Amino acid sequence: MKCKICGRPAVIKLPAHNIALCEKCFEEFVLRRVKNAIKTYKMFTKDDKVAVAVSGGKDSLALWDILTRLGYETGGIHIHLGIGKYSDESLQKAENFAKKINSELTVIYVRDFFGTGIPEIAKITKRKTCSVCGTIKRYLMNRFAYEKGYTVLATGHNLDDEASTLLGNLLYWKDLYLARKGPVLPSTHPKLIRKVKPLVFLTEREIAAYTILRGIDYIYEECPHAAGATSIFHKHVLNEIENYSPGTKLHFLKGFYERKNIFARLYPEETKMQHECKECGYPSSGEICGFCKLRRRVKEKLENGRETTTA
Ligand code: AMP
Ligand code: FES
Ligand code: ZN
Repeated sequence: MKCKICGRPAVIKLPAHNIALCEKCFEEFVLRRVKNAIKTYKMFTKDDKVAVAVSGGKDSLALWDILTRLGYETGGIHIHLGIGKYSDESLQKAENFAKKINSELTVIYVRDFFGTGIPEIAKITKRKTCSVCGTIKRYLMNRFAYEKGYTVLATGHNLDDEASTLLGNLLYWKDLYLARKGPVLPSTHPKLIRKVKPLVFLTEREIAAYTILRGIDYIYEECPHAAGATSIFHKHVLNEIENYSPGTKLHFLKGFYERKNIFARLYPEETKMQHECKECGYPSSGEICGFCKLRRRVKEKLENGRETTTA
């Protein structure tokens, strides 16, 4: 198997693009795909200061590496979730990488805000772990990206992630999610930073190959609370379709992005954050934001618990 571009021995076959590429041409292909996504969806420019949300996993570390190589001004933000050994190792990977590329990493600890980690917060609030984790991560990433003077926040969501959530949302006609979904989530308030997903044109397999070639050391384990079987099943179904007809995944997602206004039009007011939270001053749809409400509940519960045990 020879590289379609330069004729050297190929290291990877890309059926969706009908090519095989050598190491060097594959790396260039990856950089080009990301550059293309940034340009196509007008994500950011060289004047922006890009906060990369780094979990310590392969996608976000690859993203940080790629954006740095493309010459963007970047820094990392890592949220330590307080999920035992998994969180400590994730932080370690993020820190090691930041050191390697000589870039700044901002680390935020969930326990500094709640007095405890995600599993305990989920138990106290009787909410699903991943849902409560999502609310907290989104809030902290936005807040600290803003406070640190970044102008845009980039996450490592890839083509498989996006296509599988799209499939799930379509199967159950979750119009509101479909209205919000996209490669760019624009800022609708001065303190709400624009969110972008520069890896949407790359599959999980392509990103994994890139991290191996670049020698990027990431955390292999999934979060022990990893999003249920449904999203994994949808990824599996899409891979079956992809094997049968290469390129379908990309076509599916791009086609949705081209038509996404159909859904966005159903909820014209939805994205507007009218208020500022009375406690933290960050955008909110009500008087107190979801994060501060959560924090109050957890603090009350922990303080009550402490009183009962010391009484
Ligand atoms: P997930 O929702 O876990 O699939 O992660 C999607 C993206 O969110 C990752 O690629 C990261 O960019 C970001 N992310 C997830 N967890 C963290 C974290 N603990 N700290 C910072 N960013 C994160
Ligand atoms: Fe949030 Fe697993 S990463 S619950
Ligand atoms: Zn608040």
